[in-house]
Amino acid sequence: MQNHQLIIDLLQSAIATWGITTEVKLEQPSNPEFGDLSCNVAMIAFKELREQFASPVALAEAIAAKVKALDQSGHLALIQVQRPGFINLTLTHAYWMAAFKQEQVQGNTYHDLGRGKKAIVEYSSPNIAKPFSIGHLRSTIIGDSVANLLEASGYQVFRDNHLGDWGTQFGKQIVAIKKWGDEAVISSSSKPVEELVALYVKFHEEAEKDPSLEDEARAWFTKLEQGDAEARRLWQQCIDWSFVEFAKIYEYLGVSFTENNGRGFGESFFEPFLQEVIQQLVATGLAKTGEAGATLIFYPNDEFTPLMIAKKDGSTLYATRDLATDRYRRTTARYQNADGSAPLVVNEVGSEQSFYFQQLYRAEELLGWYQKGERVHVKHGLYRFKEGKMSTRKGNVIWLQEVLDKAKEKAMALSSDETIAQAVSIAALKWNDLKRKSELNINFDWEEILNLQGNSGPYMLYSYARARSILRKAQEQHISDAQEQDVTETMLEPIEKQLIMSLTNFKLSVARAATEFAPHHLCNYLFELASIFNSFYNQLPILGGGDKQGLRLQLVTHTSQVLRAGLGLLGIKTLEQM
Ligand code: ARG
Repeated sequence: MQNHQLIIDLLQSAIATWGITTEVKLEQPSNPEFGDLSCNVAMIAFKELREQFASPVALAEAIAAKVKALDQSGHLALIQVQRPGFINLTLTHAYWMAAFKQEQVQGNTYHDLGRGKKAIVEYSSPNIAKPFSIGHLRSTIIGDSVANLLEASGYQVFRDNHLGDWGTQFGKQIVAIKKWGDEAVISSSSKPVEELVALYVKFHEEAEKDPSLEDEARAWFTKLEQGDAEARRLWQQCIDWSFVEFAKIYEYLGVSFTENNGRGFGESFFEPFLQEVIQQLVATGLAKTGEAGATLIFYPNDEFTPLMIAKKDGSTLYATRDLATDRYRRTTARYQNADGSAPLVVNEVGSEQSFYFQQLYRAEELLGWYQKGERVHVKHGLYRFKEGKMSTRKGNVIWLQEVLDKAKEKAMALSSDETIAQAVSIAALKWNDLKRKSELNINFDWEEILNLQGNSGPYMLYSYARARSILRKAQEQHISDAQEQDVTETMLEPIEKQLIMSLTNFKLSVARAATEFAPHHLCNYLFELASIFNSFYNQLPILGGGDKQGLRLQLVTHTSQVLRAGLGLLGIKTLEQM
């Protein structure tokens, strides 16, 4: 997706004079001295036209002259060549006003790159009876935003949660509950997961002294697999106890899922299909059972290390359940595109699982289930606290609730209203997670997260609230923004023009963030918009702006709409007042 088709077409016809078909791309230079839009096509095309032109600059000059001759729109105010061969264009104020008016934010779809297509976005995916970790928080925040972005691009999106609710650890958990736990106590606790984690830790301590506990755990897991009523009951209890906490977190963050009645299809859902999947993989020859009895996927030319899908005792693994999940996603009718092709399937999972997902995707490609590009791993990095990375086994975890509570407590310094402080703290955490490329690690810094002057959630909310407060005042004073004006070349102040230009880039930034599965592109855009808006606000009177009042109010209205829509796509709720 590109803006300024008129200008692109003009440049495209100009270069066609020399038989050049290079795709013209426009940039908005950050320095206005280099024009409103800039294009490097002469530098690219020069490689083929060395015979005819002395330098890229010479070619750029020729193209610029041609553009001037061809232009009938009257919107080209200035065209200049800049070393080493850029063509910089300045457009009339009327052009920018028209572009601004076209870019109205209406409805929930901002472009149509995904129209008619389906996507499954899987995120959060915490493990039952384990703490909801910071990694799961990141996955929840980033995955939710990616799902929103795809929806805003026209995709029909299914939101899934691949809960870790199956595996041999449930044998241990059951033994621990039976030996040292009290179900009534766990049920009545407001933090049942903490109780379960404590029991799990105890199991490992005790098993060091008494290895027979491991055998007992294995026996319970086998019972669970075979459908033993007591084993199933306790396992289901663990899920329900965990959901007491998970549901609270999702509600607090305002995040939800569409699959399996809002709970998501956990690993256990695919248990009935596991043997079938193993057989299918063996039948196709992709997987082989080795001499030691385990079954592994072997990749052609050893491009990856083999991936185990069944242990020698026949038990399945994480990978087996992922394969079954993705086969289900591929074969279930409602997930398929109208032409029967596969949906786009996105996994938002920590970057430590990168290699595993490469193995998984390659296997699914070799099986013919998905084609390149239909499987996407959106990775996130770690939060770095001073304490370093934590492990569940030893029991020294950072509890997510503590981070959320702390954020709220700190946000109380920005607003004494508790509801507002809570919203601000959530916005602060989300923005902090989304504003940089997701796979980067984050050095967790409260100062940065809550800084009202900087690139932070509170700053964004504050900019929006400022715009809304101006509009409220205008309404109270019955001032309308309807006023139409003739657009003249002396009409716009530089900062007004900058704001208008920025406002025309919203949909483009949504498209970029969606196609790259990268919400930070949208954050970068919104932060720039907010910064320009705040300069505009500081430099110029809005109410009381004389004959500019109507136009300026339109700019404020539009800015507030873009900020609300954009923040909404990041899962951030705006506040009317702060
Ligand atoms: N439950 C896993 C974990 O906490 C994440 C699952 C990611 N999704 C997947 N399809 N494997 O590490």
